Amino acid sequence: NNTFSRLYLRQNLIVLEEVTSTNDYLKELLSNIKPLPEATAIMAIHQVAGKGQRGNSWFSKPAETLNLSFSLYPKDFLIHQSFNLNMLVCLGIQRWVSTLLPNAQIKWPNDIYVGGKKLCGVLIENQLSGPRIHSSVIGIGVNIKQQAFPPVIQHKATSFYIEKPVISTEPLEHHALSLLSTIMTLYENIDLNDTQQLLEAYNSCLFRKGIPAYYEIAGESFLGILQGAESDGKLSILINGKERLFDLKEVSFK
Ligand code: BTN
Repeated sequence: NNTFSRLYLRQNLIVLEEVTSTNDYLKELLSNIKPLPEATAIMAIHQVAGKGQRGNSWFSKPAETLNLSFSLYPKDFLIHQSFNLNMLVCLGIQRWVSTLLPNAQIKWPNDIYVGGKKLCGVLIENQLSGPRIHSSVIGIGVNIKQQAFPPVIQHKATSFYIEKPVISTEPLEHHALSLLSTIMTLYENIDLNDTQQLLEAYNSCLFRKGIPAYYEIAGESFLGILQGAESDGKLSILINGKERLFDLKEVSFK
């Protein structure tokens, strides 16, 4: 009575020299090769049209960032639970970064910060089938070799080179494989339907949790205390002693 639903090859990594976006490339593979093994990963030395969150672009010079996308098929997974998958992926990246550097935190909803600055970003694109997520493309960008960032973002961006240069000299493939293996180990061991367990773990390493800080809401600046994420992915912030819930478009960190 074997079940093969969680069978994948641990090191199914395709390395490309140049691509538009590894997420787009993987989505195309998914629609052409059926079934594409779970955890098939694409890494690109250079992305010429890398995509970020909120329709932004993710720009980097060749070999400067780790550009990685991989496929997951979360079984029986409903669309309204998509934040669970986001939490699991962030936890996996946070754990991986923690093996290399201290002070790795998750910045809601899905950035990884080190010492209060962004080291990694995540872009998850789900392919739906009715009310379920049929497949998920998880895209991760890690700042590796940047020696400095443009003045407008240098107070909020960092790289392995800036934090600890020796980490940035490891081949990108090594980083890709160890990152993938950390995330896949979590994926095998945490039940994606166990929202409570995921929320507790996610909120326990959340950037700014419990610390008074400023947030921009509808063009105005507010002092608030971040409480944590809710199961639907909204962010709870205490403002003037009152709890308020925000989605991604409603609030930004100052
Ligand atoms: C963000 O911080 O806005 C998310 C950045 C995600 C970038 C990664 S790099 C690999 C994958 N391919 C893309 O086009 N984007 C993601």
